[in-house]
Amino acid sequence: MSNGLLSLSYLIGSVSFIIGLKMLSHPDTARRGNLYAAIGMTIAIVATIFLYTDKEGSGLGNYLWIFGGLVIGSILGTYAARKVQMTAMPQMVSLFNGMGGACAAIISVVEFKHMIHSGGDVTADPVLTMIILLGLVIGTISFTGSMIAFGKLNGNINDKTLPLQQVINIGLLALIVILLVGVVTGWISIAPISMMYILLIISALYGVLFVMPIGGADMPVVISLLNSFTGVAAAFGGFVYDNSVMLTGGILVGSAGTVLTVLMCKAMNRSLTNVIVGSFGGNKSGTSSSASGGTYKEISISDTAVLMLYSKKVIIVPGYGLAVAQAQHICHELEKVLDQNGVDVKYAIHPVAGRMPGHMNVLLAEADVSYDKLLDMEEINPEFSHTDVVLVLGANDVVNPAAKTDPASPIYGMPILDVEDASHVIVNKRSMKPGYAGIENMLFFQPKTSMLFGDAKDALTKLVAEIKSLG
Ligand code: TAP
Repeated sequence: MSNGLLSLSYLIGSVSFIIGLKMLSHPDTARRGNLYAAIGMTIAIVATIFLYTDKEGSGLGNYLWIFGGLVIGSILGTYAARKVQMTAMPQMVSLFNGMGGACAAIISVVEFKHMIHSGGDVTADPVLTMIILLGLVIGTISFTGSMIAFGKLNGNINDKTLPLQQVINIGLLALIVILLVGVVTGWISIAPISMMYILLIISALYGVLFVMPIGGADMPVVISLLNSFTGVAAAFGGFVYDNSVMLTGGILVGSAGTVLTVLMCKAMNRSLTNVIVGSFGGNKSGTSSSASGGTYKEISISDTAVLMLYSKKVIIVPGYGLAVAQAQHICHELEKVLDQNGVDVKYAIHPVAGRMPGHMNVLLAEADVSYDKLLDMEEINPEFSHTDVVLVLGANDVVNPAAKTDPASPIYGMPILDVEDASHVIVNKRSMKPGYAGIENMLFFQPKTSMLFGDAKDALTKLVAEIKSLG
């Protein structure tokens, strides 16, 4: 009876996970999707705690440990999720992902030891041994890699490339494969538990060295790749425990992470190998040949207000600076004021604007901007040529023409928003400092571009007041 109930709860968990994931693909339904998946997982977890029994009919026990962990984890998770700034979300995702990898690795350590201590021979069931060890290797790489990614995004760790970095990384990977085969076939005659710890150490080192040289604009791709690693490692755990919900969850996370990795590589027009080997954007000095010190012109709030108010069509390009300034609400206010004055306003969303996938969508959704006003790069690019004013708000790399014109630039080849095609471009930022890729932006020096210096929230507040006084 309890087994039937347990299977039913796993089915509910798996289905709600699939539905939740599907709903995450649209901003309208994403919040509910997240909730459904969380409820489904809670049902599966609670059912496991109370209904699971082993072959001898004993339950899990250890309730103090289980509930102690649940309570501490829930408090920490809730506190961190409530406190985190929108701009620190990528670090948070990386940290949570690392925890998932660590869990998968710990499961493998426990199960491997259990197998040895209960008299099992690692070569007797090579498939099971391989699955446990693969969970260990992939989970550990995901954990240490995510911790390095966290440190980098948080500004605690700089990009570092060792001499012969790629050779060392390939060597470590080859060593991991040799050890895996060695343990499973019994060909290496070191005690299995020692071998397991050696594998753990080498995988941890590989995770660190794999992420260390990757930097700058490639971090989101790496985080998404590590995310898929965690999913795969969790799926191996599902195999080991013959647990369908863990298997389904792991496979879904693994495949969603892989799809996202591929999509982001496509958005940056780069191959995955190029991302992993190329350390694109990691070197902040860049190799762009663009000369600095060109002349740029400034524009005042009142001139910006007049120009926008008398436009037929305005496109707003949000970027990372909009999130830093937390100016999404006043940005929506600007859109409404212009709209009331008969100006057609749209938003151009670049796939890697901000610091995480969907960053701008989430930010603007928080301010209740209507989703049909947000247009993806492919949709909006043809519209710039018949737009009067483009307002670039705290964006930089995603509108940098060097991506199209300068083969020496580290961002060369990344598709960008074609803002230069519009009649006027107004760029709001605080200074002439570069963006994430650390390179100069010649858009700022073009004759049709005007710089509106200042914090985005400040500038927009004044702009809205000015337009209201004119309108
Ligand atoms: P960036 O190129 O990083 O430029 C942001 C600009 O915002 C900066 O030049 C900064 O100039 C300005 N800014 C900062 N604070 C501001 C404030 N309070 N008010 C007004 N402006 C402010 O941003 P982007 O165009 O969104 O491009 C994103 C970059 O991040 C790309 O290189 C992308 O590859 C990378 N990246 C993306 C992701 C994902 S998945 N979205 C993840 C990691 C990295 P000032 O300092 O002069 O104000």
